[in-house]
Amino acid sequence: MSEVPVTKNAGGPAPTGDPLVVLDNVNKHFGALHVLQDINLTIRRGEVVVVIGPSGSGKSTLCRTINRLETIDTGDISIDAKPLPQEGRELARLRADVGMVFQSFNLFAHKTVLENVMLGQTKVRKTDKATAEEKARALLDRVGVGAQAEKYPAQLSGGQQQRVAIARALAMDPKVMLFDEPTSALDPEMINEVLEVMQQLARDGMTMVVVTHEMGFARSAANRVVFMADGKIIEEAEPNQFFNNPRSDRAKDFLSKILHH
Ligand SMILES: Nc1ncnc2c1ncn2[C@@H]1O[C@H](COP(=O)(O)OP(=O)(O)OP(=O)(O)O)[C@@H](O)[C@H]1O
Ligand SMILES: [Mg+2]
Repeated sequence: MSEVPVTKNAGGPAPTGDPLVVLDNVNKHFGALHVLQDINLTIRRGEVVVVIGPSGSGKSTLCRTINRLETIDTGDISIDAKPLPQEGRELARLRADVGMVFQSFNLFAHKTVLENVMLGQTKVRKTDKATAEEKARALLDRVGVGAQAEKYPAQLSGGQQQRVAIARALAMDPKVMLFDEPTSALDPEMINEVLEVMQQLARDGMTMVVVTHEMGFARSAANRVVFMADGKIIEEAEPNQFFNNPRSDRAKDFLSKILHH
């Protein structure tokens, strides 16, 4: 496996890692709805890509195709130069390589925080319990919830639960992390604590695809902003370029709506 680039990511121009996630001419329909239209997107190792766009433009669907929660009709998706596996053990391994954090935290309610972060390690990665626990505790410390390890998810705030969900994904040593509106279900005062964890991950060199309405995060952490509308990538650019000089009318219109309210 090739090494993560040593350049620390702090937003701005993309790091020059090799292509890690490649979508080549991807099309998908939901019935008559052409939800992904000729999507070409390459995400390099160590790169942070923020995906924005109006509701219904296909952002979640795009994320979900990358770890094959959704199938595609035509085109190719590869991760680390390997095509997405269709099923079986290979697919389980792929899912572990692609960490996913959703708007809803999806923690197991009847397991403790610690058990939530150990589970994938012992079941999918076949890590022994002691090693899994040690790693889980270290990750919980890293996201700032080490003191909550023995609690159940319902005993935590939304922001804490989302940080546990991030730790759980990280426990699988993913090659890439996908975030689909990870802060949109949170009360305002909890948004920053989650964004800070994500900022730190980005600085540590994690490859990330982030669907978010948090434009501050996009500006400071993203190497590239991808703007989607109606199932298409309309525009992609470095954050400064995109926010200061959007080229397309769709992006101008979208930005004027979200930035002035
Ligand atoms: N399982 C499904 N079956 C049928 N249509 C779907 C399904 N999932 C999504 N869609 C439709 O596909 C389109 C894109 O949905 P998607 O959730 O990817 O958009 P989005 O950009 O993530 O929107 P939002 O910002 O509201 O989360 C929408 O019109 C949606 O209604
Ligand atoms: Mg969505």
